[in-house]
Amino acid sequence: MNRTRCNEMNSYLNIDHISITFPTDNGPLNVLKDVKLEVKQGEFISLIGHSGCGKSTVLNIIAGLLNATEGGVILEGKEVTEPGPDRAVVFQHHSLMPWLSVYDNVRLAVDQLFKKTKSKQERKVLLMDEPFGALDSLTRTHMQDSLMEIQARLNNTVIMITHDVDEAVLLSDRIVMMSNGPSATIGEILDIDLPRPRDRLTLAENPTYNHYRAEVVKFLHERHTQPGVPASNDDNESDGEEPALSLVAG
Ligand SMILES: Nc1ncnc2c1ncn2[C@@H]1O[C@H](COP(=O)(O)OP(=O)(O)OP(=O)(O)O)[C@@H](O)[C@H]1O
Ligand SMILES: [Mg+2]
Repeated sequence: MNRTRCNEMNSYLNIDHISITFPTDNGPLNVLKDVKLEVKQGEFISLIGHSGCGKSTVLNIIAGLLNATEGGVILEGKEVTEPGPDRAVVFQHHSLMPWLSVYDNVRLAVDQLFKKTKSKQERKVLLMDEPFGALDSLTRTHMQDSLMEIQARLNNTVIMITHDVDEAVLLSDRIVMMSNGPSATIGEILDIDLPRPRDRLTLAENPTYNHYRAEVVKFLHERHTQPGVPASNDDNESDGEEPALSLVAG
């Protein structure tokens, strides 16, 4: 299928109406339905949504590790059909080097992500699945600041899954909020119009920052509370699992 159409050439990364259905013992499970998003080069997107809605599935389709049942992903005018060196992935819940501390693992992964490959080709798109989810808050703060600095320097396009509302607002140009599954899709997109470089201490008292934060909390806790789970005030839905990271150098 040739998805290189003229009207799509303007968007750098085009997630073009993807749906995916998995076969299961209980019959077909439609996990994603008509997910569409056009991403600009150098944009930082956070993907946020309740556990199990399909965030990792979206990321794996962009990575070329899963094929959508309908629709597809177009990067710089070419359809993504397999993993490639233009996309670096930090997986959820994997340990890159089990003997290293969590901090060292994340540091290593981020260093790897931003390092030039041997061919001097920089990775263009960084796909990160809850990369800092298991870190203590001070280390996490440090990693977020490093990520912002590096991204400002290299202008990589980033799609990051997070459960942390403050992290999403601090880092993102846009926060993409997914509805609950099955048949999950993009519920709302919030533009984060805050100047860069961003400083967390200054932003903590910034009414615009706090407005954005409240919008995401409202989406997650009022409009899209997980079925069967009462709304809570806990923004960070980390499951407390062992920290972990893995890196595929595509
Ligand atoms: N290969 C597969 N076969 C069947 N079902 C799958 C498969 N992969 C994912 N799923 C189901 O798709 C849904 C979405 O899974 P996914 O891992 O993308 O969610 P998630 O939003 O990343 O969740 P979390 O926040 O817990 O990481 C889940 O119900 C999961 O069980
Ligand atoms: Mg996931």
